Amino acid sequence: MSQLSKVTLSTGHACNESEREQILNLMREIKEVNLSGEVFNMDNVIYYIEPDLSSRFYVAIIEGKIVGYVYGTIESTICGCLYYIGVKKEFRRQGIGKLLVEKLVAQFKKQGIEYIYALSTNQRMTDFSSHLGFAEGEKMTYMKRIISDDITSKEST
Ligand SMILES: CC(C)(COP(=O)(O)OP(=O)(O)OC[C@H]1O[C@@H](n2cnc3c(N)ncnc32)[C@H](O)[C@@H]1OP(=O)(O)O)[C@@H](O)C(=O)NCCC(=O)NCCS
Repeated sequence: MSQLSKVTLSTGHACNESEREQILNLMREIKEVNLSGEVFNMDNVIYYIEPDLSSRFYVAIIEGKIVGYVYGTIESTICGCLYYIGVKKEFRRQGIGKLLVEKLVAQFKKQGIEYIYALSTNQRMTDFSSHLGFAEGEKMTYMKRIISDDITSKEST
């Protein structure tokens, strides 16, 4: 049965110890990875849930438990980025991811942002974001990896 009607969204408060623990556990469970495949640095979470003007972090809560999160950054005066998103496995495909993206988009709009792009790290994200109206950017993003694997592994030791 869909749990969507039970969801509340965070409004950008500073997280308490229990919330922080829940977010960290959820991220570990989902195994959030960044573009280069490294495990996301969870020490930063406490910082992220206290949004400043250029970043937003929201969580979805059902009956007091955090079941999803979204993090977005403002990249320029008109462009924002859906940086990462995660929903607890047993709560997926019920509209919670969409709700989190809508929350982020509403906030971006308030800040005058006109475009949002998503970082797609896997096929699931590509499918999800295309359902939400994201399309492959034409001649928009040119990427270059500027750090070698050697340096990355040295830094993480
Ligand atoms: C990607 C993710 C956040 C989607 O969350 P979700 O709560 O299941 O998504 P929703 O239920 O809100 O789905 C929204 C839309 O996307 C579609 N969708 C979601 N996951 C999909 C998938 N794996 N394949 C195809 N379509 C998908 C839904 O059908 C829905 O479409 P609709 O609005 O037309 O009905 C979730 O699968 C997840 O946490 N994945 C693991 C972490 C991850 O890969 N994050 C992305 C990298 S940062």
